[in-house]
Amino acid sequence: MWEQLKSKPAFQLLEEIKRTGIVYDMQGNPCPFEDQVDHESYLALYQIMRSFKPDMSLELGFAHGCSTLYMLQGLADNGKGTLISVDPFQLTNYKGGG
Ligand SMILES: C[S@@+](CC[C@H](N)C(=O)[O-])C[C@H]1O[C@@H](n2cnc3c(N)ncnc32)[C@H](O)[C@@H]1O
Repeated sequence: MWEQLKSKPAFQLLEEIKRTGIVYDMQGNPCPFEDQVDHESYLALYQIMRSFKPDMSLELGFAHGCSTLYMLQGLADNGKGTLISVDPFQLTNYKGGG
């Protein structure tokens, strides 16, 4: 499945993060990315979005936005749907990068 999906924009961005180990804060400053991009686990999020085709979804905790990207790619491929992502530590711990 990964072979079919890796040309999509969200997945290409994640490959770039994985390759460089760098993410950017909301001012555009580079920050080290210390988490692992676990494609197999995150693909489940993509597949959930593709299977359920929700009109509205809510993500609690998005850190650097990796899980968010997979879900958004699913919604984009569905051609519909809104994702609201919230994280009380987004501005403090992640400098708004997510
Ligand atoms: C392990 S990270 C997961 C990030 C993201 N879902 C991913 O997999 O890429 C957990 C996230 O949950 C956030 N968090 C912690 N407490 C929370 C709360 N009460 N409500 C929403 N998010 C919370 C943290 O700030 C962190 O960004």
